[in-house]
Amino acid sequence: MLTFRRALIAAAVFITMLFLVTRSHSTVSTDRIAPTDGGSQQGAKNEGQTRIGDVPSSPVSTSSPEKIVSSQGKKPNNGQQVPLQDMTKAPLREKLAYQFPYDVESKFPAYIWQTWKYTPASGDFGENFRPAEASWSEKHPGFIHEVITDQVAVHLLRHLYASVPEVLDAYNSLPMPVLKADFFRYLILLARGGIYSDIDTYALKSAAEWLPDSVPREAIGLVVGIEADPDRPDWHDWYSRRIQFCQWTIQSKPGHPVLREIVANITLETLKKKDAGLLKSFKDDKVIEFTGPAVWTDTIFDFLNDEKFFDMTTGKGNITWKDFTGMKEPKKVGDVVVLPITSFSPGVQQMGAEDYDHPMAFVKHEFEGTWKPEKLRHIGTTTEEEEKKKKEQEKKQ
Ligand SMILES: *[C@@H]1O[C@H](CO)[C@@H](O)[C@H](O)[C@H]1NC(C)=O
Ligand SMILES: *[C@@H]1O[C@H](CO)[C@@H](O)[C@H](O)[C@H]1NC(C)=O
Repeated sequence: MLTFRRALIAAAVFITMLFLVTRSHSTVSTDRIAPTDGGSQQGAKNEGQTRIGDVPSSPVSTSSPEKIVSSQGKKPNNGQQVPLQDMTKAPLREKLAYQFPYDVESKFPAYIWQTWKYTPASGDFGENFRPAEASWSEKHPGFIHEVITDQVAVHLLRHLYASVPEVLDAYNSLPMPVLKADFFRYLILLARGGIYSDIDTYALKSAAEWLPDSVPREAIGLVVGIEADPDRPDWHDWYSRRIQFCQWTIQSKPGHPVLREIVANITLETLKKKDAGLLKSFKDDKVIEFTGPAVWTDTIFDFLNDEKFFDMTTGKGNITWKDFTGMKEPKKVGDVVVLPITSFSPGVQQMGAEDYDHPMAFVKHEFEGTWKPEKLRHIGTTTEEEEKKKKEQEKKQ
């Protein structure tokens, strides 16, 4: 029987789908991501700090179907359109590049994506989350702000990734909500771009103020923050990487190669595990490497060192954690801006992070507090660090 509750959910799913689908490519002006006052000096310094001064400002375009086809060794027919069905047999990365072309000069889409079990309209949403959720709308008037429930996510992804069925197969096969929540943020940003932020994260400053004045928006495609920069010899007891980029808040343009790569990576790794029957027994403590900040960090570094996108002949060597440790100002490498630890992890009272009232503090992420780790896990906030720490402490006692 169709209960009232079910009918309501169905209607909500339908309306959200309709809304998201019809808005497809109509991105909104980036006037909001407008230069801020007084940032130019700071910006000039950033330029000086940019390690790869002569990186091509726009990474190699991967958006042209001809290029994709010719990279497969097939010549495009002269002047003839490449038939779409060719792509179904293309390797996953090429399919994703074809489906979600990247244009660095496009505007940052004015979307804010969040995921949670309930929509804000639901009484079950959770009073704890309301101020955080509201802060994103308040700081970003004119943005489309969506809190996507698990039910809606399935429909939305089915629409966005219809032509890349292996991605849907992987998403549906993931055995834990935290894995799906991690994967979802990369999937939605690859397909639509905008800002993804965890539901327990406050916006302290508008995204319009995230980038320094001097950084041209049309030269940037990805903005990331630092989760951890543990400058101590035993860092590996506490963190998986010497510098760890956070994935609770990310801003991107659609099709960014880092997102394409992480979506391909998680898809292929998931299907490999599925074939080997390893998904059912998947352990919590592997999340960080599989979908969490470890693989996110690796993927970003691989991109920054990829000669397909960057001129590596400058003799300056590879980009490593050393380029981002102890940073106090944003740093631009190619089309990526890395924000200092204070921006997305203020108030942690370690690793050089300043407090919430610092001018560079942009979001406030609730690491600990009133929510239990299990709850956070559901929405994919990474608490592996916290748990690892706890386990370490228990061991030592
Ligand atoms: C995924 O990324 C990890 C690095 O974190 C790498 O070791 C692994 O080989 C990648 N897998 C695929 C299928 O690209
Ligand atoms: C730079 O990175 C590449 C790929 O990870 C590696 O093969 C190469 O040895 C590295 N070069 C230096 C100078 O570390």
